[in-house]
Amino acid sequence: MSRLDSLLHYDTIYCGPEKMHYKALSVLASTIVAGALAASPSVKSKGNLRFVDPRIGTDGETVSEYGGMIPSTAPPFAMTRWTAMTRENNVSTCPYRYSDTKIHGFLGTHQPAIWMGESGQVSVAPGVGEIKSAFEDRGMPFSHDNEVITPYYYKVSMDADKSSIEAETTATSRVGYLRFTFKGKSQPYVLVQGTRETIEGDITVSPETQEIYGRNPERQDRILGPSKAEHFNGYFVARFDQKFTGWGTATNATVHANKTSMTSTGLAAYAQFAKGTKQVAVRVGVSYISIDQARQNIENEIPDGTTFENTSSTIQDAWAEKLDRVQIEGATEEQSTVLYTGMFHSLQYPNEKFEVNATGSYYYSGYDDTVHQGNMSYTGYSNWDIFRAQWAFLIMFAPERVPGFITSMLNTYQQSGRLPLWENIVETNIMITTWSSSMIAEALRKGLDDFDHDLAWKAVYKDAMVPPVDDLTTTYADREEGVGLEARAGLTLYKQNGWVPGNQTSEAGSRTVEYSWADYTVAVVANFTGHEDKAAYFEQRAQNYHYIFNNETTFMEARYKNGSWDSSNTTWTEGTNWIYTFNVPHDFSGLISLFNSTSAFEDKLDEYFQDGHNDQTNEPSHATPYAYLYTKNPSKTSDVLRDLLKTNYNATQTGLGGNEDCGQMSAWAFFNYIGFYPVNPASGEYMIGTPHFDKVTLDLPDRTHKLTILAPDAPSKPYIKTMKVDSHALAKPIITHEQLMNSTRFTFQMSSTPGDWAKNTL
Ligand SMILES: *[C@@H]1O[C@H](CO)[C@@H](O)[C@H](O)[C@H]1NC(C)=O
Ligand SMILES: *[C@@H]1O[C@H](CO)[C@@H](O)[C@H](O)[C@H]1NC(C)=O
Ligand SMILES: *[C@@H]1O[C@H](CO)[C@@H](O)[C@H](O)[C@H]1NC(C)=O
Ligand SMILES: *[C@@H]1O[C@H](CO)[C@@H](O)[C@H](O)[C@H]1NC(C)=O
Ligand SMILES: *[C@@H]1O[C@H](CO)[C@@H](O)[C@H](O)[C@H]1NC(C)=O
Ligand SMILES: *[C@@H]1O[C@H](CO)[C@@H](O)[C@H](O)[C@H]1NC(C)=O
Ligand SMILES: *[C@@H]1O[C@H](CO)[C@@H](O)[C@H](O)[C@H]1NC(C)=O
Ligand SMILES: *[C@@H]1O[C@H](CO)[C@@H](O)[C@H](O)[C@H]1NC(C)=O
Ligand SMILES: *[C@@H]1O[C@H](CO)[C@@H](O)[C@H](O)[C@H]1NC(C)=O
Ligand SMILES: *[C@@H]1O[C@H](CO)[C@@H](O)[C@H](O)[C@H]1NC(C)=O
Ligand SMILES: *[C@@H]1O[C@H](CO)[C@@H](O)[C@H](O)[C@H]1NC(C)=O
Ligand SMILES: *[C@@H]1O[C@H](CO)[C@@H](O)[C@H](O)[C@H]1NC(C)=O
Repeated sequence: MSRLDSLLHYDTIYCGPEKMHYKALSVLASTIVAGALAASPSVKSKGNLRFVDPRIGTDGETVSEYGGMIPSTAPPFAMTRWTAMTRENNVSTCPYRYSDTKIHGFLGTHQPAIWMGESGQVSVAPGVGEIKSAFEDRGMPFSHDNEVITPYYYKVSMDADKSSIEAETTATSRVGYLRFTFKGKSQPYVLVQGTRETIEGDITVSPETQEIYGRNPERQDRILGPSKAEHFNGYFVARFDQKFTGWGTATNATVHANKTSMTSTGLAAYAQFAKGTKQVAVRVGVSYISIDQARQNIENEIPDGTTFENTSSTIQDAWAEKLDRVQIEGATEEQSTVLYTGMFHSLQYPNEKFEVNATGSYYYSGYDDTVHQGNMSYTGYSNWDIFRAQWAFLIMFAPERVPGFITSMLNTYQQSGRLPLWENIVETNIMITTWSSSMIAEALRKGLDDFDHDLAWKAVYKDAMVPPVDDLTTTYADREEGVGLEARAGLTLYKQNGWVPGNQTSEAGSRTVEYSWADYTVAVVANFTGHEDKAAYFEQRAQNYHYIFNNETTFMEARYKNGSWDSSNTTWTEGTNWIYTFNVPHDFSGLISLFNSTSAFEDKLDEYFQDGHNDQTNEPSHATPYAYLYTKNPSKTSDVLRDLLKTNYNATQTGLGGNEDCGQMSAWAFFNYIGFYPVNPASGEYMIGTPHFDKVTLDLPDRTHKLTILAPDAPSKPYIKTMKVDSHALAKPIITHEQLMNSTRFTFQMSSTPGDWAKNTL
């Protein structure tokens, strides 16, 4: 997902990113010892973590149209991630932007992506001397030269009162561990901000237990979606390792010395420490259930006596366990940096929502506003984005979580009546189409099927068959307020006519194209859950895109209810008629038949790519390069993919052209670097693109042996001559998930000139 013009506000004080200078190294990745963290020689990360550079995607030309990533510390799929704050985050604004110059504190964030809102956050800001509680007042200048940034440990030095404060962070899923070192002589303090200026919450300072704790009900997406989660709160307990010598609360810029408890807007509390105190450490437990549970989360994850180094090292191991499953030979340092940083991005969402206490696991559900038992609970589901390739990536690298991710979606169905579209604590109705069906279909097809099949079918079937409330009187515009759960808006007439009529439901062209693709995925779920009798009906509907293909213009075009063409441009979801004309990866051969000749189709694709209609910065373009595999010149797939990887990804802070979208942008790069991509994920197949490296070894969790992908000279030879799966030569550029999981070797013969490979895909 991408831009939202109504919210776009350009940053007028933008002064341009200061480009990082990467040495143009083209040595083999395996020979590199120094990692990408050029600015931090003091930290040597383990294994492939040394390539991870969380600066990637933290800046861009506007304040919103870039990767939207933050240099967060947390384990994979963490409930809360911690980041330095260079600005206040909001819908369309991230808390850290690389070109900013001051740090205003450290944030425990639940904002899953730049276009989504923050929820129940807490922040911690160190200072010296007079207490500065207002966000602007507490900014301290810093230099990137003094930053160490890894997924498990962050360090920075900030200027304060003619001296400096060094801050370090690490974090477990529900607890941040922060350590501040005060270099000067002024009296140190640490401020905990509970709520922002307009939000009312509670806070308490407890000198006896050395704690500051409270509650923040802020949820910036509150206006979206019908589930209001009225009792949603981010609870927090900050426990310090030093005695308080002074304390108080603050509201906005006003300090209330000695006050220990308050309910107010703009609320913070602080603890002062004895003059001469050199170091203060604080563990901040966060919960959606209660203050007691936030405290319990500290006991569970970073109990008293745990050293900062111990936590940091444990979290490093958690990342290394994932990233070291991929070994590469023949990549440039920049490619390795992009790929492993992408893995770091793609292993963050969906994120944990359950919490553990002495009697079991529990989670707060905003759909019915109550606490439930269970540990299969996640949030941060950007399904329109992630069903494309990030989900396939999770199936490969986090199979242990996938049934839990799906059970969590099924819980949502039981509590709200629908599977999630874009769930951020609760459903926001952002983006279109019930893509959970593709994710469930893909998991079933790939054997990760340890969830309730009957319930899954019921939920998928309902989303595909039962229109949302007021379907004929509501347009379900993007971010429309005061409407029901969107599911498949326009479904009533889609079922009757075969297309969603323009002038009736928003984004009608995109809905028709996507609903037909999604119908294919529903047929897969039917087949795998004992409802084979229903598959044919959905396979038929999967052809509905035919209705909106205009033979005269050879474009997809929305139609009005009476059948006439609607050529307005408002019919597309973050895209154009060009982009959506090719957005039927479940049936490229059917699309070609609408052009009446493969050469006419190829000409259209040429025009699409050559005239700049493809938009890699957003998802609907992601499968289109593979359409060339069905033409007489399949080598054009290699040309396009190599170019897209070169021009849209690099190892600088602006190195992600489009919003990361919970890992989809990087999962795309991952697959395309190693040579295949889940073009139509619910098919369980991958199409072959162009391997970029001489050798890749995958040690996937669910495999008993490693898979080696050999493509000698791939860095300089873009075209495939032959490909073998073990000893079996592939006739078509397609591999199955079974082949990925059960063979030991993919062998590519590469060439610098196009040959006969993949000429009979159709
Ligand atoms: C956050 O964004 C909303 C919607 O654009 C706006 O009303 C609000 O003022 C913003 N808040 C801050 C702190 O920027
Ligand atoms: C804090 O500032 C905001 C915005 O100016 C204001 O609405 C709010 O009432 C203030 N809170 C207090 C307690 O002064
Ligand atoms: C706060 O308490 C301290 C210690 O009792 C006292 O010295 C100080 O004057 C108090 N400050 C205010 C503003 O009441
Ligand atoms: C952290 O401390 C625990 C408890 O003392 C210990 O079992 C564990 O091995 C330590 N982990 C690391 C990575 O040092
Ligand atoms: C959920 O609980 C089960 C049973 O105790 C356990 O095996 C599993 O690892 C837990 N899952 C997570 C993600 O913690
Ligand atoms: C679109 O809707 C408006 C308002 O309902 C109506 O006046 C107009 O005739 C419709 N146009 C078409 C082509 O259906
Ligand atoms: C469903 O199963 C039938 C019978 O095996 C098969 O012909 C059909 O292709 C399957 N549909 C999908 C979408 O997998
Ligand atoms: C393809 O052929 C059919 C049947 O002759 C015709 O109706 C249609 O307009 C043609 N399509 C295109 C894109 O030329
Ligand atoms: C739709 O967009 C295209 C180019 O993107 C433009 O040429 C055309 O005039 C637009 N149509 C309308 C009805 O605005
Ligand atoms: C377009 O052509 C196809 C045959 O290729 C035909 O079946 C279909 O009815 C035509 N569609 C329209 C809208 O004319
Ligand atoms: C990195 O990629 C971004 C986004 O595509 C682009 O704007 C920027 O110019 C690139 N920088 C370099 C050094 O290639
Ligand atoms: C791999 O092969 C084994 C044995 O033939 C089979 O049981 C298993 O389902 C296969 N795995 C996948 C993912 O296809």
